[in-house]
Amino acid sequence: MADEIVPPANQLAAVSLGNDGTTVQKAQFSDRVLIRSILGRPDGGAKLAGQNVRIGGWVKTGREQGKGTFAFLEVNDGSCPANLQVMVDASLYDLSKLVATGTCVTVDGVLKIPPEGKGVKQRIELSVVKVIDVGTVDPTKYPLPKTKLTLEFLRDVLHLRARTNSISAVARIRNALAYATHSFFQEHSFLYIHTPIVTTSDCEGAGEMFQVTTLINHTERAEQDLIDNPPPTEADIEAARLVVKERGEAVAQLKAAKASKPEITASVAELTVAKATLAHVEERSRLKPGLPKKDGKIDYSNDFFGRQAFLTVSGQLQVETYACALSSVYTFGPTFRAENSHTSRHLAEFWMVEPEIAFADLQDDMNCAEAYVRYMCKWLLEKCYDDMELMAKNFDKGCIDRLKLVASTPFKRVTYTEAIELLEKAVAEGKEFENKVEWGIDLASEHERYLTEVMFQKPVIVYNYPKGIKAFYMRLNDDEKTVAAMDVLVPKVGELIGGSQREERYDVIKKRIEEMGLPIEPYEWYIDLRRYGTVKHCGFGLGFERMILFATGIDNIRDVIPFPRYPGKADL
Ligand code: 4AD
Ligand code: MG
Repeated sequence: MADEIVPPANQLAAVSLGNDGTTVQKAQFSDRVLIRSILGRPDGGAKLAGQNVRIGGWVKTGREQGKGTFAFLEVNDGSCPANLQVMVDASLYDLSKLVATGTCVTVDGVLKIPPEGKGVKQRIELSVVKVIDVGTVDPTKYPLPKTKLTLEFLRDVLHLRARTNSISAVARIRNALAYATHSFFQEHSFLYIHTPIVTTSDCEGAGEMFQVTTLINHTERAEQDLIDNPPPTEADIEAARLVVKERGEAVAQLKAAKASKPEITASVAELTVAKATLAHVEERSRLKPGLPKKDGKIDYSNDFFGRQAFLTVSGQLQVETYACALSSVYTFGPTFRAENSHTSRHLAEFWMVEPEIAFADLQDDMNCAEAYVRYMCKWLLEKCYDDMELMAKNFDKGCIDRLKLVASTPFKRVTYTEAIELLEKAVAEGKEFENKVEWGIDLASEHERYLTEVMFQKPVIVYNYPKGIKAFYMRLNDDEKTVAAMDVLVPKVGELIGGSQREERYDVIKKRIEEMGLPIEPYEWYIDLRRYGTVKHCGFGLGFERMILFATGIDNIRDVIPFPRYPGKADL
């Protein structure tokens, strides 16, 4: 199946084919050409033979040959997974400085068809005429040896891991999915809204927020200051009071003696200074170590925002304000959750894509989620086929077929109640789960994966969940037991998307907030959207890293984000 799809012409962005298809265009904003523009062509670059080009990249492998008379370098510049074979003659450069893995080279050369021979894969190679720049590597010290490195090992070398085939392919796939996301929503007339990262609202109400505060730094500084300059004693305060008293008396005496104006003015100035000194001494005497407190609680009125603030767990609540004015909107940004999860599906900092649609219900929401996921799968097949082949080779043989399946088949849709019945049936037939299956439970990852991987073998949308396990903003169904929520479950990952129709009825949302024991006051602005010109609306959140896991078949979410953050880890 794999060879049905040929890289389309738009992968060759950096190549101007000219009339005869033989001209290479320079990379933009640089004086070299992208290796992709040579090797990414349907002819593998063969028609470019004879062209003079400048390329730059990092040596993957290098070997001196012909008793040290020339060297072959496999060079990669990150523009595609393939390496360009580069041949350098010993008369041009000290070959020993070029062959170490990780060396950076900028070279001018002529593209040539390699001589036919055993095992020759390349359809074009570069014969160097001039070495322009070299960034050398001491191979005894380079942290990425040439041997096969595990993704786990690479997590401790975040600053260099993008130079490996796998991580650079993931970076290109991630970039393609971000582009696909904007493309999908822009094509469907959604507006991109930037929601805040610092927030004072808790969207999911799950108590997993990171706090944003400057109180701690201030307190630390103040405590150090108290050590460096011990606070004034009672005697110091008494002394300062005495000075104020004396200066006051001096002023009174001068006035009584009808002294000259300049004399009185000077004396008053001395009194003012004494009073300021006393105020300062008294204020310092009140300084205490520790966070500022009021009525036994931390006093956030002294904090940066004058109130408690957090990193957002979701842009949904804020993006709803724009949906209820501009109709179809989406936000795509980083979100933060301080869950102490050490799983391969959770990060403390991850990216979420959250569309929000006015005049739309749960069915529309599911249709949008399905269309979006299928669009991304098609996009990868069309634009990242070479990177996907690398994923298939290194991580998951079935990943390309999975993309094709998802791109071409409708998702299965079942209600939560049906899903529970199906799982109960599986249990009755001998399937064992760690977590008990019964109506009302929050589906565990093992249940979700069983539904999508074993039962239906394709993405499944579960909808109408019990209200007790879902957030306050989801619309109450007529049965008053379930809410109009939906989760998209996919093979390899489990939950990829969580969404819902929103509760647009003023009385109902107020009651739900109260029922769930949440304070009303912080949500007044959210309730206003229902108080004034309310509208039926819905939306969802797609975990961007989970989409990459699903697409690539990579096992751990820490390997699909450039700088993973999880408990105990926030390198760089
Ligand atoms: O299901 P969640 O919690 O939904 C929301 O936050 C809604 N406010 C979204 C909305 O309706 N606008 O999160 C949405 C998705 C999940 O389905 C999952 O894919 C991902 O975000 N996700 C995580 N991804 C990585 N690490 C974590 N800790 C994640 N938590 C959720
Ligand atoms: Mg969820």
